Amino acid sequence: MTNEIKNWINRDGITFLSNKGIRKGFNVVDFGSGNGHYTLPAAKIVSTEGRVYAIEKDKNTLRKLMQTAEKEGLSNIIIPISPEQEKSLQFDLDDEIMDYALIYDVLHYFSEIERKEIYREIHRILKIGGILSVYPKHNKNDWPLWNLSNMDLEDIIKEITEMKFKFKGKESVELFHDEGYDTGFILEFRKEKNQKLT
Ligand SMILES: C[S@@+](CC[C@H](N)C(=O)[O-])C[C@H]1O[C@@H](n2cnc3c(N)ncnc32)[C@H](O)[C@@H]1O
Repeated sequence: MTNEIKNWINRDGITFLSNKGIRKGFNVVDFGSGNGHYTLPAAKIVSTEGRVYAIEKDKNTLRKLMQTAEKEGLSNIIIPISPEQEKSLQFDLDDEIMDYALIYDVLHYFSEIERKEIYREIHRILKIGGILSVYPKHNKNDWPLWNLSNMDLEDIIKEITEMKFKFKGKESVELFHDEGYDTGFILEFRKEKNQKLT
């Protein structure tokens, strides 16, 4: 692990996610967790009273994440999807159990239909008042790639608010992308009362 990654996981990532509203005792879901650059600092914040659920389709990546978690003494990271379900976008998680959801640097993998399925699932598992935080890297104005290359931030905000999330704001921040520090926009949404999706 590089010094930059260590500094992010142990210091700056904790500050970043705390500033974004993750708190001790929260249940957090990290969709497309990768090797845990957000999962690990989130697990440190929520501590033993909370849980971080890492949803990641790549088994090797998950193995690396769990190895790092073990080295860091973290036992509150849960892998909710069993191997036979790994291609599904239906999460193996109960309704309304999460305080916070992260969708960071992963939306570009999915078609519009798939993204809507993901928002629907996140909406289902979030508690009322729960937060959805999105880092839409690879949109039209930030190294465009794959399914997000023709969408700007306003398009993404519109798409997510159409799925009954309330838009709370966007912020340009220093964050971690792949193996190093970067700047990018974070979008924040909330699941409001009486906005169940049909
Ligand atoms: C670019 S990485 C971002 C990792 C992490 N969120 C971060 O920001 O550091 C995107 C991750 O999403 C994962 N992914 C892609 N499709 C997925 C799916 N259907 N279910 C779960 N994870 C998926 C990829 O395997 C990859 O590890």
